[in-house]
Amino acid sequence: MAKVLVTRRLPDGGLAPLTGHELIGPKPDDAPYTHDELCAHAATVDAIVCLLTDRIDAAVLSAGAGRLRVVANVAVGYDNVDVGAAAAHGVAVCNTPGVLDETTADLAFTLILAASRLAGDAERDLRAGRWAGWGITQYLGRDVYGATLGLVGYGRIAQAVARRASGFAMRVLHHARTPTGVDGFVAELDALLAEADIVSLHVPGGASTHHLIDARRLALMKPTAVLVNTARGTVVDEAALADALHHGKLFAAGLDVFEREPEIHPRLLAAPRTVLLPHVGSASRATRTRMAEMAASAVATVLAGGTPPNVVKA
Ligand code: GLV
Repeated sequence: MAKVLVTRRLPDGGLAPLTGHELIGPKPDDAPYTHDELCAHAATVDAIVCLLTDRIDAAVLSAGAGRLRVVANVAVGYDNVDVGAAAAHGVAVCNTPGVLDETTADLAFTLILAASRLAGDAERDLRAGRWAGWGITQYLGRDVYGATLGLVGYGRIAQAVARRASGFAMRVLHHARTPTGVDGFVAELDALLAEADIVSLHVPGGASTHHLIDARRLALMKPTAVLVNTARGTVVDEAALADALHHGKLFAAGLDVFEREPEIHPRLLAAPRTVLLPHVGSASRATRTRMAEMAASAVATVLAGGTPPNVVKA
């Protein structure tokens, strides 16, 4: 029987694959473990099932050196885990690819529609009693139907967004670091940004994509364009985005992820034509349960001496 730290409460049934192992945590009030607590626990367990809000850095991994065998992040993104340090200590890192693509694409499309049609501003006005009745010039958004969609990154989630876009008769362009061989590939990110009516981001977080969308690239976008981010907050320079929205240099934004979650840049909070969601891309009960099961079963496989399909390459 191995010892497994589970850092936070997971959807019911998610930990079934770990039946028979000793589970530590989550805390009774489901509060996050501090970094010091993660280091202390790492030294005494064989595996960690964690969330994207847990920073599993070199200190945690070196505290686990010798005993810790696997870290399974209940997320497809794993920029919170130092994969290089894990490899150095012989710790396998697993994520949850594939099971959340459609759910996250639904949410990206929710933001595409809500931001383009100014649903955030309209709903805020209605709830605050600021709506005095129907007006022909009120809340004039941008059409999604027939617009040009620019996907930045062309992994599984981006492709799921592209499938939805075809139902809206959209022209779909995509940019990836290597040619995809698929119609609509644009080799230069700058060219895609200049051409798209709606830009949706689908690249991983981490150093290589930090502030990929910065002030210079925002300025390349049409003033009528809409930016949607369901990837990682660090991909966008939030201060520059807030400036672009405040100065009318970009039409609207729909964001599900932020640079310093759960802090939200105050100028983004105050920005017009913006829909902000609290990182709920994969948040359907079925999908979150599948993610937990996938992470837990990867841990069970490693503990049994196997190699799960969802091991991340360092
Ligand atoms: C969510 O953001 C994930 O990476 O699964």
